[in-house]
Amino acid sequence: MNVQDLIIKKRNGLELNREEIDFLVHGISDGSIPDYQVSAWAMAVYFQGMNERETRDLALAMAYSGDVADLSAVSGITVDKHSTGGVGDKTTMVVIPLVAAAGVPVAKMSGRGLGHTGGTIDKFESIPGFQVELSHRQFVEQVNQVKAAVISQSGNLVPADKRLYAIRDVTGTVESIPLIASSIMSKKLASGSHGIVLDVKVGEGAFMKEQEEAIRLARAMVEIGRGAGRQVVAVITDMNQPLGQTVGNSLEVQEAIDTLRGEGPADLEDLSIILAAHMLVLGGRSSDWDNAVTEVRKVLDSGQALKKFMQMITAQGGMLDFNQPDYELPMAEFEAEVRADKDGYVSGLNALEVGKTAMLLGAGRERLGDNIDYTAGVKMAKKYADYVTAGEVIATVYSNDKARIDAAGSRLLNAYQFSNHRPTPRPLLIETIK
Ligand code: URA
Repeated sequence: MNVQDLIIKKRNGLELNREEIDFLVHGISDGSIPDYQVSAWAMAVYFQGMNERETRDLALAMAYSGDVADLSAVSGITVDKHSTGGVGDKTTMVVIPLVAAAGVPVAKMSGRGLGHTGGTIDKFESIPGFQVELSHRQFVEQVNQVKAAVISQSGNLVPADKRLYAIRDVTGTVESIPLIASSIMSKKLASGSHGIVLDVKVGEGAFMKEQEEAIRLARAMVEIGRGAGRQVVAVITDMNQPLGQTVGNSLEVQEAIDTLRGEGPADLEDLSIILAAHMLVLGGRSSDWDNAVTEVRKVLDSGQALKKFMQMITAQGGMLDFNQPDYELPMAEFEAEVRADKDGYVSGLNALEVGKTAMLLGAGRERLGDNIDYTAGVKMAKKYADYVTAGEVIATVYSNDKARIDAAGSRLLNAYQFSNHRPTPRPLLIETIK
Protein backbone atom coordinates (compact mmCIF):
# COMPACT_ATOMS: atom_id res chain seq x y z
CA MET A 1 0.00 0.00 0.00
CA ASN A 2 1.17 3.50 -0.77
CA VAL A 3 0.43 6.53 1.46
CA GLN A 4 0.33 8.92 -1.47
CA ASP A 5 -2.38 6.83 -3.20
CA LEU A 6 -4.49 6.94 -0.02
CA ILE A 7 -4.11 10.72 0.25
CA ILE A 8 -5.20 11.09 -3.39
CA LYS A 9 -8.10 8.69 -2.90
CA LYS A 10 -9.43 10.71 0.03
CA ARG A 11 -8.67 14.01 -1.71
CA ASN A 12 -10.88 12.83 -4.57
CA GLY A 13 -13.74 12.13 -2.18
CA LEU A 14 -13.50 8.34 -2.23
CA GLU A 15 -14.01 6.01 0.69
CA LEU A 16 -11.04 4.32 2.39
CA ASN A 17 -11.51 0.69 3.37
CA ARG A 18 -10.59 -0.77 6.73
CA GLU A 19 -7.19 -2.15 5.64
CA GLU A 20 -6.25 1.26 4.24
CA ILE A 21 -7.24 3.03 7.47
CA ASP A 22 -5.33 0.45 9.56
CA PHE A 23 -2.29 0.98 7.36
CA LEU A 24 -2.44 4.76 7.86
CA VAL A 25 -2.93 4.48 11.63
CA HIS A 26 0.02 2.08 11.93
CA GLY A 27 2.21 4.47 10.01
CA ILE A 28 1.07 7.39 12.14
CA SER A 29 1.82 5.63 15.43
CA ASP A 30 5.16 4.09 14.46
CA GLY A 31 6.29 7.31 12.79
CA SER A 32 6.92 5.73 9.38
CA ILE A 33 4.55 8.19 7.66
CA PRO A 34 6.17 11.64 7.74
CA ASP A 35 4.35 14.69 9.16
CA TYR A 36 3.73 16.22 5.72
CA GLN A 37 1.84 13.15 4.49
CA VAL A 38 -0.14 12.84 7.73
CA SER A 39 -1.15 16.49 7.45
CA ALA A 40 -2.05 16.18 3.75
CA TRP A 41 -4.28 13.22 4.56
CA ALA A 42 -5.87 15.08 7.52
CA MET A 43 -6.58 18.03 5.22
CA ALA A 44 -8.18 15.70 2.66
CA VAL A 45 -10.42 14.32 5.43
CA TYR A 46 -11.17 17.87 6.58
CA PHE A 47 -12.55 18.73 3.12
CA GLN A 48 -14.03 15.40 2.04
CA GLY A 49 -15.18 14.02 5.39
CA MET A 50 -15.55 10.35 6.29
CA ASN A 51 -18.62 8.18 6.39
CA GLU A 52 -19.83 6.40 9.51
CA ARG A 53 -17.94 3.18 8.77
CA GLU A 54 -14.65 4.98 8.04
CA THR A 55 -14.98 7.08 11.21
CA ARG A 56 -15.58 3.98 13.31
CA ASP A 57 -12.66 2.13 11.70
CA LEU A 58 -10.40 5.11 12.38
CA ALA A 59 -11.49 5.29 16.04
CA LEU A 60 -10.97 1.55 16.53
CA ALA A 61 -7.59 1.48 14.82
CA MET A 62 -6.41 4.40 16.98
CA ALA A 63 -7.88 2.85 20.16
CA TYR A 64 -5.76 -0.27 19.59
CA SER A 65 -2.61 1.61 18.57
CA GLY A 66 -1.25 1.45 22.15
CA ASP A 67 -2.19 0.29 25.65
CA VAL A 68 -5.79 -0.78 26.13
CA ALA A 69 -7.11 -0.96 29.68
CA ASP A 70 -8.24 -4.43 30.71
CA LEU A 71 -11.04 -3.96 33.22
CA SER A 72 -12.17 -7.60 33.11
CA ALA A 73 -11.09 -8.06 36.74
CA VAL A 74 -13.52 -5.34 37.87
CA SER A 75 -16.76 -6.81 39.14
CA GLY A 76 -19.82 -5.18 37.64
CA ILE A 77 -20.45 -3.13 34.54
CA THR A 78 -18.01 -0.21 34.47
CA VAL A 79 -19.17 3.15 33.16
CA ASP A 80 -17.24 6.23 32.12
CA LYS A 81 -18.09 9.83 31.35
CA HIS A 82 -16.44 12.34 29.09
CA SER A 83 -16.89 16.05 28.59
CA THR A 84 -15.73 17.68 25.38
CA GLY A 85 -14.34 20.45 27.57
CA GLY A 86 -15.81 23.47 29.22
CA VAL A 87 -15.04 26.22 31.71
CA GLY A 88 -15.68 25.42 35.38
CA ASP A 89 -16.76 21.90 34.47
CA LYS A 90 -16.12 19.97 37.66
CA THR A 91 -18.94 17.46 37.16
CA THR A 92 -16.57 14.45 37.12
CA MET A 93 -15.70 15.12 40.78
CA VAL A 94 -19.39 15.04 41.68
CA VAL A 95 -20.53 12.32 39.28
CA ILE A 96 -17.93 9.67 40.24
CA PRO A 97 -19.03 9.47 43.90
CA LEU A 98 -22.73 9.70 42.98
CA VAL A 99 -22.45 6.73 40.63
CA ALA A 100 -20.10 4.71 42.85
CA ALA A 101 -22.27 5.30 45.94
CA ALA A 102 -25.20 3.90 43.96
CA GLY A 103 -23.19 0.73 43.32
CA VAL A 104 -21.85 1.12 39.78
CA PRO A 105 -18.04 0.90 39.48
CA VAL A 106 -16.22 3.86 37.95
CA ALA A 107 -12.69 3.26 36.65
CA LYS A 108 -11.82 6.72 35.41
CA MET A 109 -8.84 7.75 33.36
CA SER A 110 -8.56 11.49 32.86
CA GLY A 111 -6.25 14.03 31.34
CA ARG A 112 -4.60 17.29 32.31
CA GLY A 113 -5.85 20.66 31.16
CA LEU A 114 -4.50 22.78 28.36
CA GLY A 115 -5.58 26.30 27.46
CA HIS A 116 -8.76 27.75 28.92
CA THR A 117 -10.36 24.42 29.87
CA GLY A 118 -9.24 22.70 33.04
CA GLY A 119 -8.33 19.03 33.36
CA THR A 120 -9.84 16.67 35.90
CA ILE A 121 -6.43 15.31 36.91
CA ASP A 122 -5.17 18.80 37.80
CA LYS A 123 -8.26 19.36 39.93
CA PHE A 124 -7.74 16.14 41.89
CA GLU A 125 -4.02 16.87 42.21
CA SER A 126 -4.83 20.17 43.93
CA ILE A 127 -5.85 18.02 46.93
CA PRO A 128 -2.64 17.66 48.98
CA GLY A 129 -1.20 14.14 48.75
CA PHE A 130 -3.63 12.85 46.09
CA GLN A 131 -1.94 10.25 43.85
CA VAL A 132 -3.00 10.06 40.21
CA GLU A 133 -0.47 7.39 39.23
CA LEU A 134 -1.57 3.91 40.32
CA SER A 135 -0.37 0.60 38.92
CA HIS A 136 -2.99 -1.33 36.96
CA ARG A 137 -3.33 -3.75 39.86
CA GLN A 138 -3.84 -0.98 42.42
CA PHE A 139 -6.34 0.70 40.11
CA VAL A 140 -8.47 -2.42 39.66
CA GLU A 141 -8.22 -3.29 43.39
CA GLN A 142 -9.41 0.15 44.38
CA VAL A 143 -12.32 0.04 41.92
CA ASN A 144 -13.35 -3.33 43.38
CA GLN A 145 -13.04 -2.14 46.98
CA VAL A 146 -14.19 1.49 46.82
CA LYS A 147 -16.10 1.32 43.50
CA ALA A 148 -14.22 4.39 42.30
CA ALA A 149 -10.71 5.39 41.24
CA VAL A 150 -9.34 8.12 39.03
CA ILE A 151 -5.94 7.98 37.39
CA SER A 152 -3.97 9.91 34.84
CA GLN A 153 -4.08 8.44 31.33
CA SER A 154 -1.16 6.09 30.63
CA GLY A 155 1.61 7.57 28.51
CA ASN A 156 1.03 4.96 25.83
CA LEU A 157 -2.75 5.32 25.50
CA VAL A 158 -3.67 5.87 21.84
CA PRO A 159 -0.25 6.98 20.53
CA ALA A 160 -1.73 7.35 17.02
CA ASP A 161 -4.18 9.98 18.27
CA LYS A 162 -1.47 11.74 20.22
CA ARG A 163 0.60 12.26 17.07
CA LEU A 164 -2.34 12.94 14.76
CA TYR A 165 -3.86 15.50 17.16
CA ALA A 166 -0.52 17.31 17.53
CA ILE A 167 -0.24 17.54 13.72
CA ARG A 168 -3.89 18.62 13.32
CA ASP A 169 -3.34 21.30 15.93
CA VAL A 170 -0.78 23.09 13.75
CA THR A 171 -2.23 22.37 10.29
CA GLY A 172 -5.74 23.80 10.56
CA THR A 173 -7.39 20.38 10.64
CA VAL A 174 -8.79 20.18 14.16
CA GLU A 175 -12.34 21.27 13.24
CA SER A 176 -13.41 18.12 11.44
CA ILE A 177 -16.27 16.13 12.98
CA PRO A 178 -15.01 12.64 11.96
CA LEU A 179 -11.50 13.48 13.20
CA ILE A 180 -12.74 14.90 16.53
CA ALA A 181 -15.23 12.06 17.05
CA SER A 182 -12.66 9.35 16.33
CA SER A 183 -10.03 11.11 18.46
CA ILE A 184 -12.26 11.36 21.53
CA MET A 185 -13.80 7.92 21.11
CA SER A 186 -10.45 6.20 20.53
CA LYS A 187 -9.45 7.30 24.05
CA LYS A 188 -12.78 6.23 25.55
CA LEU A 189 -12.62 2.81 23.86
CA ALA A 190 -9.04 2.27 25.02
CA SER A 191 -10.06 3.20 28.58
CA GLY A 192 -12.08 0.00 28.70
CA SER A 193 -15.47 0.85 30.22
CA HIS A 194 -18.65 -0.82 28.92
CA GLY A 195 -20.86 2.23 29.20
CA ILE A 196 -19.94 5.76 28.16
CA VAL A 197 -21.85 8.97 28.85
CA LEU A 198 -20.72 11.91 26.74
CA ASP A 199 -21.31 15.55 27.65
CA VAL A 200 -20.95 17.56 24.45
CA LYS A 201 -20.63 21.23 25.35
CA VAL A 202 -21.89 23.93 23.03
CA GLY A 203 -21.44 27.69 23.22
CA GLU A 204 -18.82 30.41 23.55
CA GLY A 205 -16.67 28.50 26.04
CA ALA A 206 -16.85 25.20 24.14
CA PHE A 207 -15.10 23.58 21.26
CA MET A 208 -18.40 23.47 19.35
CA LYS A 209 -19.89 26.94 19.01
CA GLU A 210 -23.09 25.93 17.20
CA GLN A 211 -25.81 23.59 18.35
CA GLU A 212 -26.09 21.86 14.99
CA GLU A 213 -22.42 20.89 14.89
CA ALA A 214 -22.50 19.74 18.54
CA ILE A 215 -25.40 17.43 17.67
CA ARG A 216 -23.54 16.08 14.63
CA LEU A 217 -20.46 15.41 16.78
CA ALA A 218 -22.55 13.70 19.46
CA ARG A 219 -24.26 11.48 16.86
CA ALA A 220 -20.91 10.51 15.34
CA MET A 221 -19.51 9.55 18.75
CA VAL A 222 -22.59 7.56 19.75
CA GLU A 223 -22.38 5.64 16.43
CA ILE A 224 -18.69 4.85 16.96
CA GLY A 225 -19.31 3.56 20.48
CA ARG A 226 -22.26 1.48 19.46
CA GLY A 227 -20.37 0.05 16.49
CA ALA A 228 -17.60 -0.94 18.89
CA GLY A 229 -20.07 -2.80 21.10
CA ARG A 230 -20.30 -0.20 23.87
CA GLN A 231 -23.39 1.47 25.26
CA VAL A 232 -23.28 5.21 24.73
CA VAL A 233 -25.53 8.18 25.56
CA ALA A 234 -24.67 11.79 24.73
CA VAL A 235 -26.12 14.97 26.18
CA ILE A 236 -25.68 18.37 24.58
CA THR A 237 -25.30 21.05 27.27
CA ASP A 238 -24.89 24.81 27.34
CA MET A 239 -21.42 26.29 27.73
CA ASN A 240 -22.12 29.95 27.04
CA GLN A 241 -21.33 30.72 30.66
CA PRO A 242 -19.13 28.73 33.06
CA LEU A 243 -20.68 25.84 34.97
CA GLY A 244 -21.13 26.56 38.67
CA GLN A 245 -19.54 29.54 40.34
CA THR A 246 -15.85 28.70 40.35
CA VAL A 247 -13.08 28.25 37.79
CA GLY A 248 -9.69 27.09 39.09
CA ASN A 249 -8.51 23.85 40.59
CA SER A 250 -8.87 24.00 44.41
CA LEU A 251 -11.82 26.37 44.10
CA GLU A 252 -13.55 23.76 41.95
CA VAL A 253 -12.74 20.93 44.37
CA GLN A 254 -14.36 22.97 47.14
CA GLU A 255 -17.42 23.58 44.98
CA ALA A 256 -17.70 19.87 44.16
CA ILE A 257 -17.60 19.08 47.90
CA ASP A 258 -20.25 21.73 48.57
CA THR A 259 -22.41 20.13 45.88
CA LEU A 260 -22.00 16.69 47.43
CA ARG A 261 -23.14 18.29 50.69
CA GLY A 262 -26.26 19.59 48.93
CA GLU A 263 -24.97 23.16 49.09
CA GLY A 264 -23.70 23.61 45.55
CA PRO A 265 -25.01 25.74 42.69
CA ALA A 266 -28.15 24.47 40.94
CA ASP A 267 -26.64 24.12 37.46
CA LEU A 268 -23.76 21.95 38.70
CA GLU A 269 -26.07 19.80 40.80
CA ASP A 270 -28.59 19.40 37.96
CA LEU A 271 -26.02 18.42 35.36
CA SER A 272 -24.26 16.03 37.74
CA ILE A 273 -27.56 14.29 38.46
CA ILE A 274 -28.39 14.01 34.75
CA LEU A 275 -24.99 12.49 33.90
CA ALA A 276 -24.97 10.17 36.92
CA ALA A 277 -28.50 8.95 36.16
CA HIS A 278 -27.52 8.02 32.58
CA MET A 279 -24.53 6.16 34.01
CA LEU A 280 -26.74 4.17 36.40
CA VAL A 281 -28.95 3.08 33.52
CA LEU A 282 -25.94 2.06 31.39
CA GLY A 283 -24.40 0.33 34.40
CA GLY A 284 -27.53 -1.80 34.80
CA ARG A 285 -28.27 -0.40 38.28
CA SER A 286 -31.52 1.32 37.30
CA SER A 287 -34.15 0.00 34.92
CA ASP A 288 -35.10 3.43 33.61
CA TRP A 289 -34.35 7.12 33.80
CA ASP A 290 -36.87 8.00 36.55
CA ASN A 291 -35.59 5.26 38.84
CA ALA A 292 -32.04 6.36 38.15
CA VAL A 293 -32.75 9.97 39.12
CA THR A 294 -34.44 8.81 42.35
CA GLU A 295 -31.44 6.60 43.12
CA VAL A 296 -28.95 9.42 42.51
CA ARG A 297 -30.98 11.84 44.65
CA LYS A 298 -31.02 9.27 47.44
CA VAL A 299 -27.22 8.91 47.59
CA LEU A 300 -26.80 12.67 47.36
CA ASP A 301 -29.35 13.60 50.03
CA SER A 302 -28.24 10.87 52.44
CA GLY A 303 -24.60 11.98 52.35
CA GLN A 304 -23.51 8.58 50.95
CA ALA A 305 -21.99 10.23 47.88
CA LEU A 306 -19.95 12.64 50.01
CA LYS A 307 -18.74 9.68 52.05
CA LYS A 308 -17.80 7.87 48.84
CA PHE A 309 -15.83 10.90 47.65
CA MET A 310 -13.91 10.95 50.93
CA GLN A 311 -13.26 7.22 50.71
CA MET A 312 -11.83 7.61 47.21
CA ILE A 313 -9.69 10.62 48.15
CA THR A 314 -8.31 8.80 51.21
CA ALA A 315 -7.64 5.61 49.21
CA GLN A 316 -5.50 7.66 46.83
CA GLY A 317 -3.52 9.42 49.54
CA GLY A 318 -5.47 12.70 49.66
CA MET A 319 -5.04 14.38 53.01
CA LEU A 320 -8.37 16.02 53.69
CA ASP A 321 -11.01 14.99 56.14
CA PHE A 322 -14.14 16.69 54.93
CA ASN A 323 -16.00 15.56 58.04
CA GLN A 324 -13.97 17.98 60.11
CA PRO A 325 -15.54 21.43 60.10
CA ASP A 326 -12.08 23.02 59.96
CA TYR A 327 -10.67 21.01 57.04
CA GLU A 328 -8.74 23.23 54.69
CA LEU A 329 -7.95 23.28 51.03
CA PRO A 330 -4.98 25.47 50.17
CA MET A 331 -5.98 29.08 49.47
CA ALA A 332 -4.29 31.70 47.28
CA GLU A 333 -2.25 34.38 48.99
CA PHE A 334 -3.92 37.24 47.13
CA GLU A 335 -7.48 37.99 46.15
CA ALA A 336 -9.42 40.96 44.79
CA GLU A 337 -13.07 41.73 44.32
CA VAL A 338 -14.50 42.68 40.94
CA ARG A 339 -17.40 45.13 41.07
CA ALA A 340 -20.15 45.90 38.57
CA ASP A 341 -19.70 49.24 36.82
CA LYS A 342 -23.43 49.68 36.11
CA ASP A 343 -26.88 48.56 37.21
CA GLY A 344 -28.67 45.86 35.26
CA TYR A 345 -29.23 42.19 34.57
CA VAL A 346 -26.26 40.03 33.61
CA SER A 347 -27.16 39.39 29.98
CA GLY A 348 -23.91 37.63 29.07
CA LEU A 349 -20.99 36.01 30.90
CA ASN A 350 -18.51 34.89 28.31
CA ALA A 351 -17.21 31.47 29.38
CA LEU A 352 -14.18 31.66 27.10
CA GLU A 353 -13.13 34.98 28.64
CA VAL A 354 -13.63 33.69 32.18
CA GLY A 355 -11.52 30.62 31.29
CA LYS A 356 -8.77 32.82 29.85
CA THR A 357 -8.86 35.04 32.94
CA ALA A 358 -8.41 32.00 35.18
CA MET A 359 -5.47 30.93 33.00
CA LEU A 360 -3.97 34.43 33.30
CA LEU A 361 -4.24 34.12 37.09
CA GLY A 362 -2.16 30.91 36.90
CA ALA A 363 -4.92 28.28 37.01
CA GLY A 364 -4.24 26.83 33.55
CA ARG A 365 -1.42 25.93 31.19
CA GLU A 366 -0.55 27.85 28.10
CA ARG A 367 1.81 25.10 26.98
CA LEU A 368 2.11 21.41 27.76
CA GLY A 369 4.32 20.98 30.85
CA ASP A 370 3.72 24.52 32.26
CA ASN A 371 3.31 24.66 36.05
CA ILE A 372 -0.05 25.70 37.42
CA ASP A 373 -1.09 27.50 40.58
CA TYR A 374 -3.73 25.20 42.08
CA THR A 375 -5.18 27.96 44.23
CA ALA A 376 -5.60 30.50 41.41
CA GLY A 377 -8.96 31.17 39.80
CA VAL A 378 -12.24 32.99 39.72
CA LYS A 379 -15.35 32.82 41.89
CA MET A 380 -18.47 34.35 40.35
CA ALA A 381 -21.07 35.81 42.70
CA LYS A 382 -23.29 36.85 39.78
CA LYS A 383 -24.17 34.91 36.66
CA TYR A 384 -26.51 35.05 33.67
CA ALA A 385 -29.88 36.70 34.44
CA ASP A 386 -28.87 37.89 37.95
CA TYR A 387 -29.59 41.55 38.76
CA VAL A 388 -26.70 43.72 39.95
CA THR A 389 -26.31 47.30 41.10
CA ALA A 390 -23.28 49.43 40.25
CA GLY A 391 -20.50 48.85 42.78
CA GLU A 392 -21.79 45.43 43.83
CA VAL A 393 -19.27 42.57 43.98
CA ILE A 394 -19.85 40.28 41.00
CA ALA A 395 -16.76 38.09 41.31
CA THR A 396 -13.49 37.53 43.15
CA VAL A 397 -10.16 36.65 41.55
CA TYR A 398 -7.45 34.62 43.32
CA SER A 399 -3.74 34.11 42.68
CA ASN A 400 -0.41 33.61 44.42
CA ASP A 401 1.05 36.16 42.01
CA LYS A 402 -0.06 39.66 43.01
CA ALA A 403 0.99 41.11 39.67
CA ARG A 404 -1.61 39.01 37.87
CA ILE A 405 -4.54 40.14 40.00
CA ASP A 406 -5.20 43.65 38.59
CA ALA A 407 -5.14 42.71 34.92
CA ALA A 408 -7.36 39.74 35.65
CA GLY A 409 -9.94 41.90 37.43
CA SER A 410 -10.52 44.20 34.46
CA ARG A 411 -10.49 41.29 32.01
CA LEU A 412 -13.14 39.52 34.05
CA LEU A 413 -15.33 42.62 34.18
CA ASN A 414 -15.20 42.68 30.37
CA ALA A 415 -16.51 39.12 30.29
CA TYR A 416 -19.78 40.42 31.76
CA GLN A 417 -22.52 42.11 29.75
CA PHE A 418 -25.34 44.02 31.40
CA SER A 419 -28.79 44.92 30.15
CA ASN A 420 -31.84 46.77 31.48
CA HIS A 421 -34.04 43.89 30.44
CA ARG A 422 -34.21 40.50 32.10
CA PRO A 423 -32.69 38.07 29.57
CA THR A 424 -34.63 34.98 28.50
CA PRO A 425 -33.65 31.84 30.45
CA ARG A 426 -31.35 29.41 28.63
CA PRO A 427 -31.74 25.67 29.21
CA LEU A 428 -28.68 23.82 30.48
CA LEU A 429 -29.67 20.53 28.84
CA ILE A 430 -30.28 21.06 25.13
CA GLU A 431 -30.67 17.54 23.77
CA THR A 432 -30.09 13.89 24.61
CA ILE A 433 -28.85 11.50 21.92
CA LYS A 434 -29.08 7.76 22.42
N1 URA B 1 -10.50 16.61 21.97
C1 URA B 1 -9.88 15.49 21.54
O1 URA B 1 -9.52 14.63 22.34
N2 URA B 1 -9.67 15.35 20.21
C2 URA B 1 -10.04 16.26 19.30
O2 URA B 1 -9.83 16.07 18.12
C3 URA B 1 -10.67 17.42 19.77
C4 URA B 1 -10.90 17.57 21.11
